[in-house]
Amino acid sequence: MSLQQCKVYVTRVIPQPGLDILNQQLEHVKVNTQDHILSRDELLANVKGLDGLLPLLTERIDAELLDTAGSQLKIVANHAVGFDNIDIPAATERGVMVTNTPGVLTDATSDHAWALLFSTARRVVESDKFTRDLKYKGWGPMMYLGGDITGRTLGIVGAGRIGASVALKSSGFRMKVLYCDEFENQELEKEIGAQKVDFDRLLQESDFISVHVPLLEGTHHLFDDNAFKMMKKSAYFINTSRGPVVDEAALVRALQSGEIAGAGIDVYEEEPKIHPELLTLDNAVLTPHTASATIETRTKMATMAAGNLIAGLKGERPQNLLNPEVLDQ
Ligand code: GLV
Repeated sequence: MSLQQCKVYVTRVIPQPGLDILNQQLEHVKVNTQDHILSRDELLANVKGLDGLLPLLTERIDAELLDTAGSQLKIVANHAVGFDNIDIPAATERGVMVTNTPGVLTDATSDHAWALLFSTARRVVESDKFTRDLKYKGWGPMMYLGGDITGRTLGIVGAGRIGASVALKSSGFRMKVLYCDEFENQELEKEIGAQKVDFDRLLQESDFISVHVPLLEGTHHLFDDNAFKMMKKSAYFINTSRGPVVDEAALVRALQSGEIAGAGIDVYEEEPKIHPELLTLDNAVLTPHTASATIETRTKMATMAAGNLIAGLKGERPQNLLNPEVLDQ
């Protein structure tokens, strides 16, 4: 079949330059133009007979979906760097290529981790509300005291692309950086004197802990009651990775009991649900999984995903192929 004739489905409106790439080369591009996440039934109904699918992290791509799409499906081009929403072995078994969007969202995501770090430590959201509510009646020496940032210890859990980027941005604040990861990150050690330590030491010594691990069996509930208990009572916890890396109920307990000082959270255990008590806590700053949400970054993610999709449909090797084994089949 010619490239033009390939059928493609995009599960949500993405920035126009990404859609332009698809529309310039394909005649049958269907986009879910409703501004909501598709239900499972809607998704399954729309994947039948596709050659290529461009989903978001909100869509579960599993064996059932791949079989519903049919054996002509060539590629699933995820519009995200994380790919825990996709059953890669199931795709590989069926000869379907899977791609993601690494690199282009590293800075936006690490910037957001810093935004959460500042907002929690300096109580920006709480004090903004206080000011807007016209409660500010004059300067007070005990008003909205937060925690120092400059010169403190930053603990990075997962020193891959995004974790390393958060760490490197700390140098203006003269922070000591600890990290834990399976691998040594020599760039971090050389550039900012970061020290690789074990998880327990990182928990015990860090003033700020920022999480950047992928969601895997081994990282599920990495942060549980025990982990929060090991942290300093003055510590702040930042998560821009994946929600299920944290036991959200344990996080709520830690914030309520003063086990930790505060948390900046962008991702949730059962998105879009959020633990109801987390919503009531002033020492938590919450954002709706928007760490990569800048116009520039989302545009790059869209064009990258579209480029991967087109390459896969042409029978070429997409730039960000996660399961190269399919090409050897
Ligand atoms: C966002 O969470 C992503 O994985 O791109």
